[in-house]
Amino acid sequence: MNVAVILAGGVGSRLGNETPKQFFKVAGKTIIEHSIDAFEHHAGIDEIAVVVHPLFLLKIEELILANNWLKVKKILKGGSERYDSSLVAIKAYASQKDTRLIFHDAVRPLVSQRIITDVIAALNTHKAIDVAVPATDTIVEVNEQGEYISSIPNRKLLRRGQTPQAFHIETITKAYEIGLKDPNFISTDDCGVVVRYLPQEKVYVVLGEESNIKLTYKEDVYILDKLFQLRSTELQNQCDFNTLNNKVMVVFGGSSGIGESVVNEAKQYGAKVYSFSRSENNTDITIRQQVSKALKSVFEKEGRIDFVVNSAAVLYKQTFNSMSAVDIENIIAINYTGMVNVAIESYPYLSKTQGHMLFYTSSSYTRGRAFYALYSSTKAAVVNFVQALAQEWEGEGICINAINPERTKTPMRTHNFGIEPEHTLLDAKTVARDSIKTLLSNITGQVIDVKINK
Ligand code: CTP
Repeated sequence: MNVAVILAGGVGSRLGNETPKQFFKVAGKTIIEHSIDAFEHHAGIDEIAVVVHPLFLLKIEELILANNWLKVKKILKGGSERYDSSLVAIKAYASQKDTRLIFHDAVRPLVSQRIITDVIAALNTHKAIDVAVPATDTIVEVNEQGEYISSIPNRKLLRRGQTPQAFHIETITKAYEIGLKDPNFISTDDCGVVVRYLPQEKVYVVLGEESNIKLTYKEDVYILDKLFQLRSTELQNQCDFNTLNNKVMVVFGGSSGIGESVVNEAKQYGAKVYSFSRSENNTDITIRQQVSKALKSVFEKEGRIDFVVNSAAVLYKQTFNSMSAVDIENIIAINYTGMVNVAIESYPYLSKTQGHMLFYTSSSYTRGRAFYALYSSTKAAVVNFVQALAQEWEGEGICINAINPERTKTPMRTHNFGIEPEHTLLDAKTVARDSIKTLLSNITGQVIDVKINK
């Protein structure tokens, strides 16, 4: 039996936050949920045990209920050191011979299915397995005071350890039995205990991945966010457009540019698409009742709404001081209030279908620039809004994301920037196809970059 032991007994003192880092949210879920998901979805894992800090037992119980994980069979109270938490799991399975324990840090949410597969395979030929990546930095060893280099080990032979670390239960039990009798026992990881106290046992090393990072410091949250974004792009590429057939899609701002391309692409695959805009049917997203009316009309006809896309936005490329009061009001109303109206009115329909909502941001969202004060800040708001709602609506199964296209060939762009060389612009169809891939995925709370050289 292959048992994944998710070690979540720590409090994350290096990160310094009241909530331990395994309960931070990234990409719409807590870190520990991503980690457990990885093992729940792996066919080679028979059972999962979660070792958790006693103060957070209730929290983990809530997550187990909300996620419907079928493999999670034990919730164990962790100890004060990491190895105490490992020991708790070892003891819990002590009577079950032929068990293989696969320990994984709850704070490494991006462990891949490939790593888990390789670890399980390696357990057929070895009794102890580590996962590690080649060291890219030169590692220097210093003296006790940390002042001078005492040696520089050969980098070619150095690896950085990750998890999972996996063992036949009798091997890890034996290693700890011997280790705990040592008055100088210290341990930061379970493989270390085997290496030190069962030196005759070979610990096989499976190749890890750079993305299998451990959330340790605050900054790591940003890196994880980006890595999840990259992974979602990979997932998107596996999607099947034919599943659009008969799905009901509402597009606000579907009369031109990216919106129009989304409408055309989705129709081509059999989706029932309804486009609303000021020019087509007098629908102004800045007026909530008009958004409400549009959605209601579609629901009355189709009985459901699966996707809502809002591509309506305006860009006036000019200095803030030179903008007229009307332009200022307009851009805020269309780019911001419009988005809020679409979200609030679509919510009841999408919660019925566990549907998907999509907005558009711009690469300028990360940093404001002259001439774009209102455009960029409303686009930054899109990202923030999407991330917040992804968390709030996660329990209801609604996905909400933002597409971040590079410069795209649209009438809005030509109007503001004139004619630009074709090869420097994305075509709207590419953005539309990536938008649809996102709608067909179960990604939530993400910013999906669409780049010209993808
Ligand atoms: N862990 C555990 N029991 C402990 C300590 C750590 O199960 N007594 C788990 C953590 O929850 C984490 C993993 O071991 O998933 C890796 O440990 P580390 O990153 O060191 O976590 P913390 O101890 O939480 O963090 P810090 O060292 O910053 O306090």
